[in-house]
Amino acid sequence: MAQPRILILGAPGAGKGTQSAKITEAFDVEHVTTGDALRANKDMDISEMDTEYDTPREYMDQGELVPDEVVNAIVDEALSQADGFVLDGYPRNLEQAEELEDMTDLDVVLYLDVGEEELVHRLTGRRMDPETGEIYHVEYNPPEDPDVEDRLEQRDDDTEETVKERLRVFRENTEPVIEYYEDEGVLERVNGEQAPDEVWEDVKATIEDVA
Ligand code: AP5
Repeated sequence: MAQPRILILGAPGAGKGTQSAKITEAFDVEHVTTGDALRANKDMDISEMDTEYDTPREYMDQGELVPDEVVNAIVDEALSQADGFVLDGYPRNLEQAEELEDMTDLDVVLYLDVGEEELVHRLTGRRMDPETGEIYHVEYNPPEDPDVEDRLEQRDDDTEETVKERLRVFRENTEPVIEYYEDEGVLERVNGEQAPDEVWEDVKATIEDVA
C-alpha cells in the first residue's frame, strides 16, 4: 500500500516526539508536528487574525493552545505536501479533529497512555540538543558525549508550573478527542509507560497490523 497516514496522540511528555522519530525512519513518512512548527515560528505576527495575543510565543510559554486558525493552516499545508505522515500534536480539541477529517483520511490512530506523575517527571527532566533536535532526559536518556551534554537546552515550557497548566489544558481539550476516536472504534492504545524500545515494539507492531 501507499505510505501510511498515522496519527499519534498522547499527553504532553507521553513520548510522541520520541516515537515519531522512530516511525519516520522505519516507515519512510514525514513527521508533521505542530509543536516544532510553532516553536520555529514563535514570533510570527498573527495580530491580523484577531487573536488575544500577537504571536504564538505568549500562548506557548503559558501552556495554552495557540488559536485553531493558526494551527489548522500549518497542518493543512504540511499534509498537502506529504505522501505518508506521522501527525504529532494535532488535533488537540474537537474543532481541530473536525478540521482534520476534511483534510485527510487516517490509517492508524495511536494513543500513548502514560500516567500524570510520570508525565511531570519526564517533562521537567527533558533536554533538547539545539544542533540535532535530538530529545534527551537527564535521568532516563542522558547523552554519552560530554560535548552534547554541555550544549543541551531545556524547553521554555518545561518548567513545573507550565507543565501543570499544559496537563490541565490536555485534560480539558484533548481528552475529548481521544474519546472521540475511541467511540469511532479506531483508537489503538499503547502502554507508553514502558521503556522507549518496548513502546517502540508495540507502536511498530500496531502500525504493521493496521496499515
Ligand atoms: P508540543 O510540542 O506538541 O508539546 P506536547 O504535546 O506538550 O508534547 P511534548 O513535545 O512536550 O511531549 P512528547 O509527547 O513529544 O514527549 P517526548 O517524546 O519529547 O506543543 C507545545 C505547545 O505548542 C503547546 O503547549 C501549544 O501551546 C502549542 N501547540 C502545539 N500543537 C498545537 C495545536 N494543535 N493546537 C494549539 N496549540 C498547539 O518525551 C518527553 C520526555 O520523556 C523526553 O525527555 C524523553 O526522552 C522522555 N521519554 C520519552 N519516552 C519515554 C519512555 N518510554 N520512558 C522514559 N522516558 C521517556
